[in-house]
Amino acid sequence: MSQSTHKPSRDGFTSSFGVLAATLGSAVGLGNIWKFPYLTGANGGAGFLMVYILATLVVGLPVMIAEITLGRHVKANPVTALIALSPARQPWWLIGAAGMVASFLIMSFYSEVVAWVFAYVFKAIGGSILSSDRKVTEAAFGALISDPLQSLLWQWLVLIGMGGILLLGVSKGIEALTKKLMPLLFLLLLLLCAVSLSLDKAADGLAFLFNPDFGKVTGTVVLTALGLAFFKLSIGMGTMMTYGSYFRDDQNIPVTTFRVMSADLCVSLLAGVAIFPAVFTFDFAPAAGPALVFITIPAVFSQIPMGQALMVVFFVLAAVAATGAMLSLMEVPVLILHERFRLARPKAVMLTLVLLAVTGSTCALTNSTLADFKVFGLNMFDLFDFLSSNVILPAGGIFVALFVGWVWGFDKFRSVLSNHEQLQNEGLARVVFFLLRYISPLLILIVMLKGLHLF
Ligand code: PFF
Repeated sequence: MSQSTHKPSRDGFTSSFGVLAATLGSAVGLGNIWKFPYLTGANGGAGFLMVYILATLVVGLPVMIAEITLGRHVKANPVTALIALSPARQPWWLIGAAGMVASFLIMSFYSEVVAWVFAYVFKAIGGSILSSDRKVTEAAFGALISDPLQSLLWQWLVLIGMGGILLLGVSKGIEALTKKLMPLLFLLLLLLCAVSLSLDKAADGLAFLFNPDFGKVTGTVVLTALGLAFFKLSIGMGTMMTYGSYFRDDQNIPVTTFRVMSADLCVSLLAGVAIFPAVFTFDFAPAAGPALVFITIPAVFSQIPMGQALMVVFFVLAAVAATGAMLSLMEVPVLILHERFRLARPKAVMLTLVLLAVTGSTCALTNSTLADFKVFGLNMFDLFDFLSSNVILPAGGIFVALFVGWVWGFDKFRSVLSNHEQLQNEGLARVVFFLLRYISPLLILIVMLKGLHLF
């Protein structure tokens, strides 16, 4: 039995393309299609986008490289990995524990948004939402989220589906699914962009997305952009450390992370270009919040022949992208419970799902039964989102950077990063290490303090 042997043989990604696809599968998800457009809309447009890109390059990339490097070196879950690498009695493993909390917070609301996407597949098949009239699309979305039974039912179906896929194992379940369908999503987004760009007020949408007004960039906006960078790249909570532990030893980490970051950014930008011209043409509000994508996308599809069929395909692909990301989120607690607490994998999956059904329900019911239940003035959906992206992930990033920069040290970092070959990637390793040691932690700290109004 694998959980009782001393050194269990670990599952892992089997091919180089599989590694890229699975890592991309974790990064690309509802963050691109749902969160990026609505946060960009709510935070003033292009200025937010610029800060987000900057945060991704200066903080996101180095932290992602650090996490994958650590994970691949130890080949274990984040808690075990950090215990193995830390000097005696230094509790760096708390990064992994905080990551587990963050993964539950994120999954709680993420699974509800995945649920909306699945529900929209069926709404799209029914055809009732295919309209450029904002009253129609807003009413359809409102009816879904304010119905407690539908919200809960879809969410639990999603959870059961995720559990099923996870029980098939890492390489079979995650690799096979993400490998095949990502390119299709990309193509469909390209088509949507072409349609959106032909709309009347396309220029206004593009100006909103690409012409920055830095007057709108406040401390809170910067923190939100930084939080999005962490959320997008699945970093700051051990997910990339976990995925790094499945990386093969000959995988080129900097190249893989750069490709994932670039492809991820492309998908977000395509989603932005698909949505904002329609927002301005059909008179939606850019700051509509989490509803934005669900009310705007049907309007774009209503403009093309075969729009209804293509919209079904779109929501199916969005569901697949979301599934890849959701699976990677679940993998964090599952692997910790399996390796650290010696639970058999199926039991670890079940326990995670049961806990999630409880915490997730509070998010599923925020627009109905629990609408008035608020903590710090936020409903559970918004609270979990805020706490994870704006507090736990950036804090996790600070500690991952500090750990590599000050505890693990340059020699080990460079050696693992360059696949144990001398001198390869020397310059790059130095730059990334410098960022991790000095720049990233300080920058994140300042942005957090300012964004949370702590100074
Ligand atoms: N990166 C995913 C997305 O943008 O949809 C969400 C996510 C996955 C966040 C995994 C965090 C994580 F650990």
